[in-house]
Amino acid sequence: MYTQAIDIPQGKDEPKRGPRSLTEVEYEAEFDAKVARGDFIEPKDWMPDAYRKTLVRQISQHAHSEIVGMLPEGNWITRAPTLKRKSILLAKVQDEGGHGLYLYAAAETLGASRDDLVEALHSGKAKYSSIFNYPTLTWADIGVIGWLVDGAAIMNQIPLTRCSYGPYARAMIRICKEESFHQRQGFDLLLTMMQGSAEQRAMVQDATNRWWWPSLMMFGPHDKDSPHSGDSMKWGIKRISNDDLRQKFVDATVPQARVLGVTLPDPLLKFNEATGHWDFGPIDWSEFWNVVNGHGPCAKDRLAARVKAWEDGAWVREAAVAYAEKQARRERRAA
Ligand SMILES: [Fe+2]
Ligand SMILES: [Fe+2]
Repeated sequence: MYTQAIDIPQGKDEPKRGPRSLTEVEYEAEFDAKVARGDFIEPKDWMPDAYRKTLVRQISQHAHSEIVGMLPEGNWITRAPTLKRKSILLAKVQDEGGHGLYLYAAAETLGASRDDLVEALHSGKAKYSSIFNYPTLTWADIGVIGWLVDGAAIMNQIPLTRCSYGPYARAMIRICKEESFHQRQGFDLLLTMMQGSAEQRAMVQDATNRWWWPSLMMFGPHDKDSPHSGDSMKWGIKRISNDDLRQKFVDATVPQARVLGVTLPDPLLKFNEATGHWDFGPIDWSEFWNVVNGHGPCAKDRLAARVKAWEDGAWVREAAVAYAEKQARRERRAA
């Protein structure tokens, strides 16, 4: 049961939406019917307050993850082994910055302020994907991040192209196309290293050992322990459960590991003839919660790097505002 008024905030200058004669219950019934039909909910449509809040939380966490995700890899741009790998990595890291921007813009369509969102990230109040709190120790980590981390991200994000909120769904279409390039470049990098020296192969195996379990954790807790899953499913934000996505990821990744010639660090990984899926061992959820709660190996560094980048970029934002004001003045004069 929602207790909010019908005239929910829709931006200062916008007229209130919808036929006045409808009661809130009717608005909600209309919203539910739209979701059930598979229609998109658009920014100016009426929506339950809890739906809006859930989306702002999810989209902003997603945006934060994209821009924090630039850090572990950005770290390796200067050390890329060839010009080709350097340009690929540069393009990938820039893509992630772009993903963050689309997503902040999508959150803004729900009435969130970007300054507030950024402030929540910088103060440590907002969460981002825990995977980025692990260190990137060798060049092989860059390949494994593309292969496993971007691979898991695609699994998570493809269903979001059909989520009920229009701006989020549309942003995800382009993001998923770029994520698929990220996954392929990671796999290609690893394939090259696996054809190299014994040391290079060992480096790939070591990176796989370190990233495999955190990648499985990217799908979030088991469905029964996932606090927001029920509502998200009901509202058409989430289409496939955490456990089902994780299983899809394992099923897709095991054959890829064989092609690469690496071993996935799970002695219980075994094909189950009866289910047609790969069974895998238990996930260490104490590690997951520890990292989610801010105790990941690089949590402090990541946040400090983010805040520094924001402060160092202040002059760019000021210059952009000054330029926009100058343009507006010119336009007014011309008019
Ligand atoms: Fe991304
Ligand atoms: Fe990516």
